[in-house]
Amino acid sequence: MKRVAILISGGGSNMVALVRDMTGDHPCRPVLVLSNRPDAGGLAKAAALGVPTAVVDHRPFGPNRAGFEAELARHLDAAGADLIAHAGFMRILTPGFVRRYQGRMLNIHPSLLPKYPGLHTHRRALEAGDAEAGCTVHEVTADLDAGPILGQARVPVLPGDTEETLAARVLVQEHRLYPAVMRRFALGNRERLDL
Ligand code: GAR
Repeated sequence: MKRVAILISGGGSNMVALVRDMTGDHPCRPVLVLSNRPDAGGLAKAAALGVPTAVVDHRPFGPNRAGFEAELARHLDAAGADLIAHAGFMRILTPGFVRRYQGRMLNIHPSLLPKYPGLHTHRRALEAGDAEAGCTVHEVTADLDAGPILGQARVPVLPGDTEETLAARVLVQEHRLYPAVMRRFALGNRERLDL
């Protein structure tokens, strides 16, 4: 059984989708939900699901990234995390931290990577006039949003879409894609999954 820590910064809907999936014959169990924001809505959701939570607020560390990451690592290691799932975790990590967990850390990103790494993915897809949008689960490497792609799900961009309507349509697919990729990844399958 793989022990999974989930990193969040916000509402945690992807975290909830992952945790709900990790029962029965699933090869993983959630051992920790960790937020860098004390006010992240996902913390209460994790607690309600019976998953231990922790907060490592990045703000007191200021520019001291190493200090913040040492504290993150302390929690991850204390929880005995085998795999780490970024689920709306909005901090960029240093290459040193990434190396420490390389091959064991996944992220979900709300675009069809390699298109639109970084922020404002839906706005950028709309501005470009794209006919489709989607989400990607990838391995976390030192290059932002550029690690090996493990899976993607696509949705159409519809006439009249706004950032909000497109984000909502993509989010539905995120909740399907991330659990599906997590199951496969935990069993050693790194082949790309297209939903
Ligand atoms: C999700 O759309 C996720 O793909 C995105 O933040 C949202 C978090 O929602 N992640 C990123 O933009 C990472 N750069 P959630 O907290 O409800 O899962």
